[in-house]
Amino acid sequence: MPDSQLVNIVINGRPLTVPKGEMIIEAARRIGIEIPHFCYHPRLSKETGANCRMCLVEVSMPRRGPDGTVTLAKMPKPQTSCSLPADEGMVIETETPAIVEARRGILEFLLINHPLDCPICDRGGECPLQNNTLHYGPPTTRFVEEKRHLPKAYPLSQHVVLDRERCIHCARCTRFAADISGDAQLGFLKRGADMEVSAYHETEFTSLFSGNVIELCPVGALLSRDYRFRARPWDLATQKSICTECSNGCNIKLDHRAGKLVRVNARVNEVVNEEWTCDRGKFGMGHISSEDRIRRPLIREGDAFREATWEEALSLVEQRLREAGASTAFLGGSLSSNEDLYVLQRLWREVLGSPHLDHRMGPSFARNVDRIRVLGHTGVVRSISDLEKKRTIVVFGSDLAVEQPIVYLRVRKAWNRHDARVIEIQPASLRSPGHSNRVADFASVSARYDPAERVGAAWDLLRTAVEQRLVENSALPNMVVGKLDTAPTCSVISALSSILLEPPVAVLVGADAVRSMDMMDVLEPLGALAQALGDAWTIAVPASKVNEQGARDLGILPDTVPGGSPSATFGFNSHEILESAGKGNVSVLWVSGLDVAQEYHDPAFAARNLEQAPFVVFSGMHLHATARMANVVLPVCSVAECDGTYTNVEGRVQRFYKAYEPSLDVREEWRIASNLAARLGCPMAYVTWRDVLAEIAAKVPIHRGCTPDRLAGEGVLREEPVLTGATKP
Ligand code: SF4
Ligand code: SF4
Ligand code: FES
Repeated sequence: MPDSQLVNIVINGRPLTVPKGEMIIEAARRIGIEIPHFCYHPRLSKETGANCRMCLVEVSMPRRGPDGTVTLAKMPKPQTSCSLPADEGMVIETETPAIVEARRGILEFLLINHPLDCPICDRGGECPLQNNTLHYGPPTTRFVEEKRHLPKAYPLSQHVVLDRERCIHCARCTRFAADISGDAQLGFLKRGADMEVSAYHETEFTSLFSGNVIELCPVGALLSRDYRFRARPWDLATQKSICTECSNGCNIKLDHRAGKLVRVNARVNEVVNEEWTCDRGKFGMGHISSEDRIRRPLIREGDAFREATWEEALSLVEQRLREAGASTAFLGGSLSSNEDLYVLQRLWREVLGSPHLDHRMGPSFARNVDRIRVLGHTGVVRSISDLEKKRTIVVFGSDLAVEQPIVYLRVRKAWNRHDARVIEIQPASLRSPGHSNRVADFASVSARYDPAERVGAAWDLLRTAVEQRLVENSALPNMVVGKLDTAPTCSVISALSSILLEPPVAVLVGADAVRSMDMMDVLEPLGALAQALGDAWTIAVPASKVNEQGARDLGILPDTVPGGSPSATFGFNSHEILESAGKGNVSVLWVSGLDVAQEYHDPAFAARNLEQAPFVVFSGMHLHATARMANVVLPVCSVAECDGTYTNVEGRVQRFYKAYEPSLDVREEWRIASNLAARLGCPMAYVTWRDVLAEIAAKVPIHRGCTPDRLAGEGVLREEPVLTGATKP
């Protein structure tokens, strides 16, 4: 940073140099001085802060007298350090008698109406109001009047209840809703002692990110319905983990007790989720401790299952795999860890000699090699945090806040904090998404296409870039140039003159395109645009399941092996696998995790063929419709019960950690697969998950460097497959 942007200040007698304009509360932190606060939060806007007055400091500024001498002039009143920018020569004191007294007064004031019901408050033990009162508060209060009384547990949303008696009006929650999630559904009603937080007009708080306000609230005013009265924080143990509810890979903390998940909180990873989660992740992981977990192996007998030992179940699977040999197929895996997937695909390719593996639920089953050729890479976002550096972000066919919640927050931040221009090109059906986090609310251009014109919309975007001379025809693949005049158009997009594509551009392609037969036709012009712009990462086709990207990278595909190289033999895709199983041409079908009978793009087709398949093995956690059709069910560990890695939507390999011993008779899939390999005469030398990870790092070129110690922090962006002839087909 140039010297002109730095200023010299003194805090408690200690000189330091900080960026001009940095808030004093932040400058003090640089030298380990903690100034107590409630409303300040580094990620929330400063403009609407300074509500609680807890962060008071005394400030003096240099003043030049008429004779040229410089003296220090103390500001007449204490200042709020969370809203006071550092300036040259500023001298700050944080612990003077006046400040100590002022803090006592502030706390006495904040507690006037506070119910002091700490013994039954979920925040007890981790409450900034409790802690600051202990350290800085008065020993007693002069307030003897009746306190304000309001109903407890006001139902603010599906997940959040509000205890208005406890609120200290810090406005963290309202600022989150306005600044970060953007739904702006929370605000203050009334004034003075009657002021209260509410969803406007007391409607439901429908934000997809409502759970974040529970963690932001510095008192026990905003609480989780799920967690309410379930535990005291000191009864809980905490483990680092990764959310499994979508592919964004949010870093989380699992709070657990007696082998059960009790609560999920966000964990900071600046390059992924900063410190946010969405409600699906925060409140959706309870299933890992639910009663309907499969408790031990099951073997079908007639129309029912009977519980079996692992030895019985594995012997039966071994026998059927031995008989079937290459006539076996593997479907699913996008909920499994990288270690599971790597060993499972080894079992398939090396031990059984079968190339029939796929994790995709359709309807498009384009070859991975073609997808890589068209896109220039495997389709990852590459860097969620880099979205903040884009000038233009195009959201194409995606209800982004639902499909990619944390990517949505970054796109909104790029617009809100960095003035990125956001353009959304969406299917007409997205007019009323049923939630309050809409790209349309901040997009410069919102266009709606008829699904029949989806491909035309993508071509029109490329044509717009050509017309704006953003890309030259000479930079486009010959095949694409040849189609520019003849490829379909979209009546809505072609009529728009307001689409300005200022580089750097990002195009995020969503489910409307990816979950359609048109996928490759949409990707062709967009991929060409990205590569002509000279930055293949312009286009991203984000994965949806937690480890869908890992499944793609580690060869759970019929045409590419781990690392993305084409396989020697192309196997069946998901559709062909199901069809062949239904006809009896695949003797053993192994389904991992997914409820294929529900999640397949044609559920009836999937269910019919699963029912007719000669022998189905299911490995997973829950006895859903697909599991119920299996002949053998193998229960597997949840993310809390084992160690491993997932690859998120950016291609970032991230580690999750075992939180507790499973109370059920469950195993990791990699262990099941290597056990079966040994039974089939091909032992694999893995003792722990680390052995598998080490082999992946050694043998899969794109996973070079993904070792446990390097994965400990922000995770590692794995490399991309090396492409040949990708740009000029
Ligand atoms: Fe602050 Fe909590 Fe009150 Fe919101 S509910 S204003 S976060 S104290
Ligand atoms: Fe979990 Fe995805 Fe939500 Fe993050 S965005 S908390 S990974 S569901
Ligand atoms: Fe500064 Fe609240 S933290 S006024």
